Order: sequence, then C-alpha cells, then structure tokens
Amino acid sequence: MFRRLKDCHNVQDMRLLAKQRLPGPIFHYIDGAADDEITYNRNTAAFDDCDLVPNVLAGVEEVDMSVEVMGQKLDMPIYCAPTALQRLFHYDGERAVARAAKKFGTMFGVSSLATVPVEEITEITDGPKMFQFYFHKDRGLNDALLQRAKEAKFQVMALTVDTITGGNRERDLHTGFTSPPKLTMQSLASFAAHPMWAWNFFTKPKFDMPHLSGHVAQGTNLAVSVGEYFSSMLDQSMNWKDAEKLCKDWDGQFALKGIMSVEDAKRAVDIGCTGIMVSNHGGRQLDGSRAPFDQLAEICDAVGDKIDVICEGGIQRGTHVLKALSVGAKACSGGRLYLYSLAAAGQAGVEKTLGNLRTEIERDMKLMGVTKIDQLSRENLRWRSHPGEKL
Ligand code: LAC
Repeated sequence: MFRRLKDCHNVQDMRLLAKQRLPGPIFHYIDGAADDEITYNRNTAAFDDCDLVPNVLAGVEEVDMSVEVMGQKLDMPIYCAPTALQRLFHYDGERAVARAAKKFGTMFGVSSLATVPVEEITEITDGPKMFQFYFHKDRGLNDALLQRAKEAKFQVMALTVDTITGGNRERDLHTGFTSPPKLTMQSLASFAAHPMWAWNFFTKPKFDMPHLSGHVAQGTNLAVSVGEYFSSMLDQSMNWKDAEKLCKDWDGQFALKGIMSVEDAKRAVDIGCTGIMVSNHGGRQLDGSRAPFDQLAEICDAVGDKIDVICEGGIQRGTHVLKALSVGAKACSGGRLYLYSLAAAGQAGVEKTLGNLRTEIERDMKLMGVTKIDQLSRENLRWRSHPGEKL
C-alpha cells in the first residue's frame, strides 16, 4: 500500500511511511536495535503488563496536560529525546524537530552527534532544549561541547551513560550502514530505489556534524558505523567522578541518560543531578536488559522525591505516557517515535506525531477521569499477573 502523511494516525503508521521513504540501511539504523532485539521489543510490550483503571463522572471538559520537569514547563508530558544524525533522515534534520517542538511547547534534545549546530537551534527557539553529551577521549572536545551548549543557552544537559561501548547492531552489519553513507554498489542501489531521498541528500547543504568537526575527522568525512564511533571515540574510563565534575562544570539542570538501577539512581542524586532518564538507549545497547517501564517503580520509590525521573523507551501511545506518569515519572521521552515521522515528512511529520500524541493524551485523560497530570497515581493501575495487588 502506498502511504501518505494524512494516513498516519499513530507511530506504527509513521514507521511504515518512513520505511517507504528511506533507503534500507538508514531505515534499519533507526528501526534496529542490539542482538536479538528482545529488549527493544520489551520496551513497548512492558506497558501491556498493567492496565489503567478509569474513574468516571469527573467533569473533564478542561484538561491540563502540562508538566514541569528539570525546571522546564512543558505543554505536554512527552518530549523528543536527543538523537544523532538527523540530517540523514530528512534534509532539515534537527531544524525540523526544533520547529515542531516549539509549536507544541515541548522540549527536544540535540545530540553531540547532531547535524545542525546548537547556535542555529537557539535561533529557531528559546524554548526548552536539552543537550546530549557524549564523553569523548578528547578532553578539548568535551570542554568545547559544554561551552557551546552553555553559550547557546541550552537549559538542560544530559550526559549519556549507556554507550560506554558500541551496541551490537546486527541490522547495521547486514546493511553496511555508516554515517555518512559509504558509496558502495549496495548503497547506490538503495539510493536509486529512493530517488527523492537521494536527491535531497545530495543536493541540499552537505552532511556535517558541526559539534565534532574541527576535533575529529568523523565530524566531516569519515564514514564509520555508530558502534565503531562509540567504541573508538568515547572514553571507556568515564566514571562517577567524571560525571560529578561535568555536573559541577555545567552548573545547571543536569541529567544522566541511561540509568537503570536504583543504586545508580541514588548516586545520581548524590552527585547533584536534577534528573535521570530511565532508559536503555532504545534497546540499542545491552540486549537482555530490563525495560524502563518495568524498572520505573523501584527507581521512583527510591529517588522520585529527590530528582526528576523521566521514562524513556518504547513509548508509542498516550496510554503508555499515562501509565509511566501514574507510576511516578515526571515526563516521558522518545526517539524513534518522532524519527520515523521526521523521515516520513520532515517538520510536518514531527508535528503530526506530536499532534497525534497530544490528542491521545487528552482523550485518555478524559476517559481516565483526570484533568491534571498530578491526579494520576498508582491507584489507577493494576497488574495483569496479580490483579488484586496495587503496585
Ligand atoms: C545510536 C546513538 C547515536 O543509538 O544514539 O545510534
């Protein structure tokens, strides 16, 4: 079936449109995950292990879904997680996401491995922005990243802690995905099969990673896989002392992205973080690790009153957001959920997805009998495996 944007009513519709628009290696880079993709699949499936229990007759004509997270007021309780290489998916790249997020009054993240510089992003919006920090071996590069994000007035810094080495992305090994794409017989054939993408990729301003260029060749012209980049460029000696120093140097809202254990969540509080993303990097790193939603309750119980807990991973529906917020998350975030739509239709695509989610959340709140996010609690949830038990 030939799909169009107007036929996309949910994340899975958008995924299929992205598949239609993108050369195979690029689609599978977004869509794929580590090893057998068990964790990736569990991230979404985890939400189905509990059910919402609605209340009725609550007078729900006015619904306020805004939240405050890491000092930022968001008009909706989900934001666009930072993701790398967006110019590969659509020629507007991070610009499209920035404009769409601005329109919906929500936050978005910009990666160290972004394709549009932070300065240009700030010209697009003074709304809430998160910079995703990758800790490189090159300390000069680390200092420059922090400085640039600070000068560009990004309000939130997120240090990625779950990519200490590259995940085993077997789809990328099969397709030979690199960034920027290498010109091989196989990649040329996939470009030829997607002429619109190829035209835009080769005729619009050149692919670049402006936060890295000047520091590493990978910033401009070396085609490498993301796994290779993580394994060779990032500093595997990174430890709690480094995180604490970065947090101090940043001197503002600071999160660790990729916390999964209670022990680490407590240490994040101890070093002065103001937030954590409970996340397994979209199942792209350690396959067989637990899903964020499965792990959320114990983390919220341990640190939820001291730090903002964000649930990231597998979210595709308004009800997933409501379940995470009921358990105790302050907000949710997602990567693929808007990357499919960026690939499908640029800014219009991301707007459509954020609009779909906003509509779902509003409808689901009304059906749950709540008018404000803080009315959600574990009272509204029951587990299927032990239905009589509250969490
Ligand atoms: C990835 C990185 C770049 O998962 O976030 O591919």
